[in-house]
Amino acid sequence: MKLQYLGHSAFYFEMGYIKALIDPYISEKVEDLEFDEKKITHIFITHGHGDHMGNAMDIAKESGAMVISNYEICMYLQGEDINVHPMHIGGRVELDFGTVKMTPALHGSGIETEDGMLYGGNPCGFVIEIEGQKLYHAGDTGLTMDMQLLEVESIDVALIPIGGNFTMDIIDAARAVRFIKPKVVIPMHYNTFPIIEVSTEEFVNKVGDIAQVKVLDIEEVYTF
Ligand code: NI
Ligand code: MN
Repeated sequence: MKLQYLGHSAFYFEMGYIKALIDPYISEKVEDLEFDEKKITHIFITHGHGDHMGNAMDIAKESGAMVISNYEICMYLQGEDINVHPMHIGGRVELDFGTVKMTPALHGSGIETEDGMLYGGNPCGFVIEIEGQKLYHAGDTGLTMDMQLLEVESIDVALIPIGGNFTMDIIDAARAVRFIKPKVVIPMHYNTFPIIEVSTEEFVNKVGDIAQVKVLDIEEVYTF
């Protein structure tokens, strides 16, 4: 699986024919995209906040990509003529490219529109398995005991928020890594705004030898 970090909580991944975005709030710093927006096949959205929905609507309209999200966000996007696959917390589904499980996140999910905030259902994360490789995107979340349930999933790469204030901070994110026990952890949702500025070095130290921490620069590609 080829994974490119697009800043904040946004990632692109491809494997086989799937070319997907997760929470496509793409940093302005990204100049070299590893993908063509028109060729995106799937877009995963963890919750309704603007820094996660990002450009999802525009990219979905241009590419015809299918959006995979919770029922409420999917119904909202379907009203905009976007292809959707609604799921809900705890649900696992086999799709043509692999399997997707929607995991709980402890956060909000209001959809910010010009007419105010719409109800966006429960926030979530995703465990995505393609050809035996498992990727977990936690979404925005606080530390939860539910994360202990992810250990049995044998996650290869976990994308975990570490910025604090809106999500887990470094201390709790390191605790989450202890619960999840992924092979590799990639931090996200930090340094985008002053309030979520953190030291990734401190995170690396806190995780220790529980997992390999891979801090990705914006645009950096990680293959596993
Ligand atoms: Ni959020
Ligand atoms: Mn966020």
